[in-house]
Amino acid sequence: MLGNFSYHNPTKLYFGEDSLGYLKGELDRYGRNVLLVYGGGSVKKNGLYDEITAILSECGKNVAEVSGVMPNPTAEKLREGVKAAKAHNTDFILAVGGGSVCDYSKAVSVSVHCDDDPWDKYFARFEEPTCDIVPVGCVLTMAGTGSEMNGGSVITNREQPLKIGHVFGDDVMPRFSILNPRYTMTLPKYQMCAGIYDIFNHICEQYFSGEDDNTSDYISEGLMKGLIHASRIAVDDPQNYEARSNIMWTATWALNTLVAKGKSTDWMVHMLGQAVGAYTDATHGMTLAAVSLPYYRYIMPYGEKKFARFAREVWGISADMTDIQLAKAGLEAMESWMKEIGLVMNISELGATEDMIEGIADATLILDGGYKVLDRSEIVKILKESL
Ligand code: NZQ
Ligand code: ZN
Repeated sequence: MLGNFSYHNPTKLYFGEDSLGYLKGELDRYGRNVLLVYGGGSVKKNGLYDEITAILSECGKNVAEVSGVMPNPTAEKLREGVKAAKAHNTDFILAVGGGSVCDYSKAVSVSVHCDDDPWDKYFARFEEPTCDIVPVGCVLTMAGTGSEMNGGSVITNREQPLKIGHVFGDDVMPRFSILNPRYTMTLPKYQMCAGIYDIFNHICEQYFSGEDDNTSDYISEGLMKGLIHASRIAVDDPQNYEARSNIMWTATWALNTLVAKGKSTDWMVHMLGQAVGAYTDATHGMTLAAVSLPYYRYIMPYGEKKFARFAREVWGISADMTDIQLAKAGLEAMESWMKEIGLVMNISELGATEDMIEGIADATLILDGGYKVLDRSEIVKILKESL
């Protein structure tokens, strides 16, 4: 049975090859002092930076920049951005990049008018914003996280080391996001595939929880099937617009808060992957890929029926088998697809070593929405399997 919920998503999307044409109209709605946030330089190489700065100047904006936002943005970099945003009396933050730039911009947005340390307040103490929030808009260049249409913000504290996500409310979600699939075509294949698996796993995290017959699961199965299909085309032909646009749109739906409504969710693959990321600084989607199969194989007996349904509905396995046989066959089909598209299948390849396992286990938050609530020794076991 679907639980009770309210649903509202305030982010306005502009999708497609002409979507940047809407940026000026959106920017005109906000104040003059804009903080332009971007990553390590891909936007300069592919020309997007020049297009955006031309639009900002046409709008008469007074622009300050924060560049060099790294994948897995750090608490230290966040403090630097907050300082820059305060100094600029920022009215609006324009994030141009992937999930890291979007997440980072949201974290800055809730910290500009706040005296607390942003890591302590939002990522260590999980407090909600108590100050004015600076509005954020995104121009997305990488499909994966769903950050363009959600309140999520994931920050890494390299000293601790911890990588923690805070899901903020409607006020922090981007006011608008511009999604042009063409921008994603300059992504290295490794990043494209990591993004594809991030999308897939967001759906899994919401699917592998609960036994009810609900609309969310049917939506999730459709999203997964479409993504698997598009991923095969994109891996073979990265310039295929149809596949890249379907991947980008699926990424948004996978984590724009819709499919989780009214049902429980798991998110343990993300907790494990984030802990691996805290220790290795590896690419987010690859950390998920590397821990997924050991985790799913471990919890499968506790959610056998759902894993059997996954085999039938997502992978089209229709043989006359018991639920447990089907469940195993479904995970085998998933493993073949993961290898086919070139995902990293173990954490050693991402830089994790045996002597890190205890620390990674300590950095793994334990959630209770999945088919089995893990204890620490089970986490260690899964991490060892993932090596
Ligand atoms: O920094 P630049 O030079 O721009 O290069 C980036 C970066 O090296 C590059 N890139 C992005 N767009 C490109 C491009 N290169 C060429 N052409 C383009 N068009 O790709 C690299 C990765 O970018 P990043 O933004 O880090 O990737 P992603 O979008 O996967 O974001 C990852 C971050 O998002 C968090 C992750 O934990 C990680 O910190 N997540 C956020 C979520 C949310 N807000 O809900 C949920 C996710 O589960 C995830 O945890
Ligand atoms: Zn993710």
